[in-house]
Amino acid sequence: MRPVGETIVEAEALQQRVAELGAQISRDYAGRDLFMMGVLKGAVFFVADLMRHVEVGCELDFMAVSSYGSLTDSSGVVRILKDLDSSIEGKDVLIVEDIVDSGLTLNYLLRNLRARSPRSLEVCALLVKPGRRQIELPIRYVGFEIPNRFVVGYGLDLDQRFRNLPYVAALDGDAAPYDEALHAVGEVAGGGSGRTAA
Ligand code: IMP
Ligand code: MG
Repeated sequence: MRPVGETIVEAEALQQRVAELGAQISRDYAGRDLFMMGVLKGAVFFVADLMRHVEVGCELDFMAVSSYGSLTDSSGVVRILKDLDSSIEGKDVLIVEDIVDSGLTLNYLLRNLRARSPRSLEVCALLVKPGRRQIELPIRYVGFEIPNRFVVGYGLDLDQRFRNLPYVAALDGDAAPYDEALHAVGEVAGGGSGRTAA
């Protein structure tokens, strides 16, 4: 079994872009404090690297959400598994996501956090798949636009595996329909169950 296929973003390119994003965020938030909210688990690697390039004072917190759907497609029905530890009222909040695919998970998070009256609320996504978007969302910082393929690595998983790859790769045999990709790697795990997003 050779599950991981073509590299989509090399490790060096990831690190360079993360540094650029950190510099841009530092300029945009100069003189302010930033509340960075990483979405577990996928964004852990990205937010840890990004934060080291941010030169304004910042807090770090996490949320974990689960979205119902198949292993690779979210449905937009989201449940909070772990909430923030503290209030974001009056704070400048940056949601840090690994990947925005349909946008349904992020749409839920934006609405949920907006209701808590932050001073500002922006999004930084390492990867976006424009071809899959179902809802237009304001994503202020984007690392890379990638093709419509299922990718793993640098935090992104398939059924909890491959997060540890230092680069982002597509799965071998990944064609547009994601379930075919799953068959290609023999990873289909009893359909219809909930899955942990991010
Ligand atoms: P969305 O709600 O469809 O935008 O999906 C968001 C979540 O689905 C992300 O936070 C990821 O956890 C997961 N996801 C979407 N696309 C991929 C992918 O290509 N590889 C791994 N996880 C993905
Ligand atoms: Mg995931």
